[in-house]
Amino acid sequence: MLKVEQAYEEKSVAALYQDAWVAGTYVEKRFAFSWSRLLHQTQVTEINRVIDEHRPEMTVEVAPGPARLTTGIRGIRKGVLIEYSQEMLAQAKRRLEARGLGPLWEVCHGNAFHLEDQRLQCDFLYTFRFIRHFMAEDRTRLYKNFHLSLKPGGLLMFDVVNKEVRQKIDARKNSESNGELDVYDVTYSVEEFSQEMADHGFTVLFLKPVIRQFELQSWISYTFDRRIGKWADCLVRLLEKIPSPNPLEWIALSRKID
Ligand SMILES: C[S@@+](CC[C@H](N)C(=O)[O-])C[C@H]1O[C@@H](n2cnc3c(N)ncnc32)[C@H](O)[C@@H]1O
Repeated sequence: MLKVEQAYEEKSVAALYQDAWVAGTYVEKRFAFSWSRLLHQTQVTEINRVIDEHRPEMTVEVAPGPARLTTGIRGIRKGVLIEYSQEMLAQAKRRLEARGLGPLWEVCHGNAFHLEDQRLQCDFLYTFRFIRHFMAEDRTRLYKNFHLSLKPGGLLMFDVVNKEVRQKIDARKNSESNGELDVYDVTYSVEEFSQEMADHGFTVLFLKPVIRQFELQSWISYTFDRRIGKWADCLVRLLEKIPSPNPLEWIALSRKID
């Protein structure tokens, strides 16, 4: 459900990240806890697995922010980053250069809603913490742009928020925003997500569950990270090995239907 004042469409979402402080503190603020670091690492692992298996000639990351994921990606043959915020772009360039990855990535200022300007034909396109922030009409515009930018049979990967778990979290949360940016997240059941992808010319190949025991994993992180960080981290990782039908999120890999 959309809250008053929440960012949820092209202009308001873009505006949230055009701020040097938001860009400069993004990774340290949002990925500070054991459970959120595990989420980050699982996303990096899944992107690397696809690159390893499919060996894409050209990989595109849309809305990379400060290159949170990009700095962990290996096996890039030709990589393109498309980001709208100049503040985020500056952070991304700095972080990639610092790790010697600058030459692998072409870093472009661009708008995900107008990818025709970039004339891309890529094999693999991924984008995280981005599509989820938009309502249906804007998501349709984004899917069209991604479809256009992928080669026939090209692969699309992004994060999908589980409706059931998110509803429970929202019901418990008080109205304080906890310093988080106030931005909308669309949530799904597996069936709803598969239907949305089919409606936009993609077939879902798999959904990888991430943060399978959110309630317990987040409690351990918030309670013990500061005191016994290493042990809390181990416990959160161990819990991830227990299967669950209700993870916090999935990482979805879909294929373009031609
Ligand atoms: C929540 S951050 C996600 C960053 C990164 N993908 C991650 O997972 O950490 C959203 C990013 O989308 C970028 N963004 C917002 N609107 C955009 C647009 N229309 N085109 C491209 N990037 C956009 C923002 O500048 C910001 O860097």
